[in-house]
Amino acid sequence: MDSSTSLQVRVARKAAETPDICVFELRTLDGAALPAFDAGAHVDVHLPEGVVRQYSLCNAPDEAPQCYEIAVLRDARSRGGSVGMHALQEGQAITISAPRNHFPLAKGAPHHVLFAGGIGITPILAMAHTLAQQGASFELHYCTRSCATTAFQRRMTSSAFADRVFFHHDDGDAAQKLDAQTLLKSPVVEGAHLYVCGPSGFMEWILAAGRQAGWSEDRLHREYFAGAAIDTSDDGAFEVQIASTGAVITVPADQAVTTALATHGIEVATSCEQGVCGTCLVRVLDGTPDHRDMYLTDEERALNDQFTPCCSRARSARLVLEL
Ligand code: FES
Repeated sequence: MDSSTSLQVRVARKAAETPDICVFELRTLDGAALPAFDAGAHVDVHLPEGVVRQYSLCNAPDEAPQCYEIAVLRDARSRGGSVGMHALQEGQAITISAPRNHFPLAKGAPHHVLFAGGIGITPILAMAHTLAQQGASFELHYCTRSCATTAFQRRMTSSAFADRVFFHHDDGDAAQKLDAQTLLKSPVVEGAHLYVCGPSGFMEWILAAGRQAGWSEDRLHREYFAGAAIDTSDDGAFEVQIASTGAVITVPADQAVTTALATHGIEVATSCEQGVCGTCLVRVLDGTPDHRDMYLTDEERALNDQFTPCCSRARSARLVLEL
């Protein structure tokens, strides 16, 4: 199924997993099976008020899943997504996209090291289910503030892969704390792949530990769920030129490229609006973008031939866009 397909689902179950995390079970309105997904996939959830957010599927992937499960942290700094999700009621119908996957498991890897920070457990949990089903070699390190803030703890400790899950609580004793540098330096398994999801500081820490220990970039996999905090105080205006018409549009200092384009009748599809999902990706034919997304890899950014106009800007005076 095309990932742009919309699906009508209902909230079949909503339950508190921790004081701040709710788990939602989504089922079709008529009870039919949902499109299959692979571990690491997410769906766009269209909330009332026009807010669209991406949430990773955390249940065990299945060829014909009866439900999708997502878990959402109530975020005090929410721009509408987590508050909107927590306000949903059981039985309420919502629209979601078909699953998409920017965070797949590497096929054939001899070992997988999974790291989750807080609510970043959601795609990682689906990965653990899949790897356990496949009989693959893996270990899962799950870092949270405390036992009380640890979602899915009971599910994991009673799972078939319980012996491969290591919990690390900030308020626990030193012996259980995660020492990522030592863990990744010691020979896990030659050719192992690393996966991380969580707050950006946690992710950067794990990725830096991997790089320091000599892990090659192609074995480091990540999924950001929020855009990076960016200092916009030095932002200035710049121009974008539409390649198909030659029209030149000024992007003011305080406006996103997508907003400036929209005011001139040029709509670019967006979803997260914070550089996470890649929905708005546009090719750049000339000029140098100022990449502010978490979606492109460092190698892709260095090519400067595409950018995310929902959040990225320009280093050059003008960008020529393939629109
Ligand atoms: Fe998600 Fe731009 S809309 S990256």
